[in-house]
Amino acid sequence: MNYQWYPGHMTKARRMMQEDIKLIDLIIELVDARIPLSSRNPDIDQLGQGKGRMVLLNKSDLADPKGNQSWMEYFSTLGITAVEVNSKTKAGIKGIQRAVEEACKEKRERDQKRGILNRPVRAMVVGIPNVGKSTFINAYAGRACTKTGNKPGVTKGKQWIRLGKGLELLDTPGILWPKFEDQQVGMRLAFIGSINDEILIEEELATDFLLYIKDRYPEAIEGRYGFCQKETPSDTLEEIARIRGCYKKGQVLDITKAAAILMDDFRSGRLGRMTLEEP
Ligand code: G4P
Repeated sequence: MNYQWYPGHMTKARRMMQEDIKLIDLIIELVDARIPLSSRNPDIDQLGQGKGRMVLLNKSDLADPKGNQSWMEYFSTLGITAVEVNSKTKAGIKGIQRAVEEACKEKRERDQKRGILNRPVRAMVVGIPNVGKSTFINAYAGRACTKTGNKPGVTKGKQWIRLGKGLELLDTPGILWPKFEDQQVGMRLAFIGSINDEILIEEELATDFLLYIKDRYPEAIEGRYGFCQKETPSDTLEEIARIRGCYKKGQVLDITKAAAILMDDFRSGRLGRMTLEEP
């Protein structure tokens, strides 16, 4: 299947990001812990030059704990602090503070040398659509947050959420666009449900997914459906349809429905925790 898909707003997103980045010191980049590479846009490295950086492996509850560990090590070798979080339950949110301090250390030292004291660090959350940016901002800022008004010298209309004395967060996240030029990236984004399913053929997606996980997580299908993955994906889908009672008129197996069940089970973690990319 062809996984190419171009959201219409990429140019606008880039322009907005460039404007917002001028206002901030720290970029809090969210990636999906199941596919930390495909859910990233490397353009952020260029856009974010000279800024403090940190990566949050969000949805880490759905990813393999071993995978989370190797990705944290990987980002650390790039000099970027990474933290595992689950924005839905707020697990890991408390641990972010230390990483924020770490990422802003240089800036604070620079400020101090120039005699600027107590200027808060301004941060912005960025990530591709559906990676959990809004959920994270809500979890991190919580209800206790104070919204600050417009500030002199700051673009009108920007809202900042004050998080303690030393940190202010832009209340709207920056939207990054994924790298769709790469078919493999497109496919993995489709697996996690980041590409609109309407333009995809569910059955083909499920077929690619079954092939993809066959060696990586050989026990996942058995763990969920009680049978081992069959020789071919279509046999596996047929068996899922049978087990789940997916039939069309005339007792014909409904493979499309089985495919949807499979992908939904994966996306909600019912196939077990899986990381689909290795550093
Ligand atoms: P965005 O702003 O980056 O576009 O993403 P958003 O916060 O809207 O989150 C997208 C989906 O991901 C939401 O699910 C949200 O609940 C879920 N999500 C965010 N963070 C996590 C996490 O750490 N773990 C898990 N398991 N899920 C997370 P939804 O299906 O759109 O809504 P709902 O299921 O919450 O009703």
